[in-house]
Amino acid sequence: MAKKIVIANWKMNPLEFSKAKTLFSATRTITKLLKKTKVVIAPPFLFSQGLGVRKNGLFLGAQDALWGSTGAFTGEISVSMLKIIGTDYVICGHSERRSMGESDAIVAKKAYAVYKEGMTPVVCIGERERDANGTYLSFLAQQIRESLSLIPKKDIARIIIAYEPIWAIGKTAEEAMDSRKLHEMTIFIQKTLSGLYGRNSADKVLIIYGGSVEPKNAPDLIKNGNVSGFLVGHASLDAKGFGAILKAVDAL
Ligand code: PGA
Repeated sequence: MAKKIVIANWKMNPLEFSKAKTLFSATRTITKLLKKTKVVIAPPFLFSQGLGVRKNGLFLGAQDALWGSTGAFTGEISVSMLKIIGTDYVICGHSERRSMGESDAIVAKKAYAVYKEGMTPVVCIGERERDANGTYLSFLAQQIRESLSLIPKKDIARIIIAYEPIWAIGKTAEEAMDSRKLHEMTIFIQKTLSGLYGRNSADKVLIIYGGSVEPKNAPDLIKNGNVSGFLVGHASLDAKGFGAILKAVDAL
C-alpha cells in the first residue's frame, strides 16, 4: 500500500525557538513508532535549519516560497534557498496566502519552481463557502486546472493536492468536513484530474485533507475520507494530539 503522509503546518508558531525545539523533539519521539506514515514538519522559516528535522528522520517542509534563486525581493525566501537547506515539501497557495492576494497564476509559478528544484509541491485548493448551485465545484476545478497548469503532464504524479475547504480551517473537529463529504470531494478532485491528465496519472496524485483535523475526527477521516493523509494546522502544535492523529493514520 502507498505510504501515507501527514504534514504539520505550524504557521506562525511557536513564538520562540526553544519552544519549537521542545515541540519538535516531542513530535519526533512519537514518530519513531510509525511504520507507514511520512511525517513532514513545516515550521516558520526562521526555525527551519535549527531543528534538524531531516537528521531526525522526518521530512522538512516550507509554508511558502518564491520562484528563483536570489534577487531584489524584499522579505522573500527562494525555492533554491529551500532546496539548499534540505527542504522536501513546499506548501503552495495555502488559503492564508491566497487571502493576501496570491492568484492561481502565482500559485502555478510557485508550484512549478518547487517542482523544478526537485522538491514536492503541496498545492492547496479549497472553497471559501458552499452554495446550493454547486458553483464551488467549478471554482475548485478552476483552481486545480490553473494552479497545476505549468507542471508537465508526465510528472503530475509528483504533486500533492491538499484539499482545504476554507470554512473548515482553524475550527474544531465538530465543524470540520465529515468523512462522507470528504469522500465525495476527493472523487470530484480525481475526476477533474482525470479529465486533465488521464485516469492513470490522476490516480497517482496524492490527495490529502486539511481543515480542523484533530485526534477526534482523524480516525474516521482517514478511514472513510478517501485521502492519503492530512495537512494539520493547530493540532500539530500539541505533540500529544498530533501523535494521536499520526497513530490513527498509521494504523490503517
Ligand atoms: P487547521 O489548519 O488544522 O488549524 O484547521 C489547517 C491548515 O490551514 O493547513
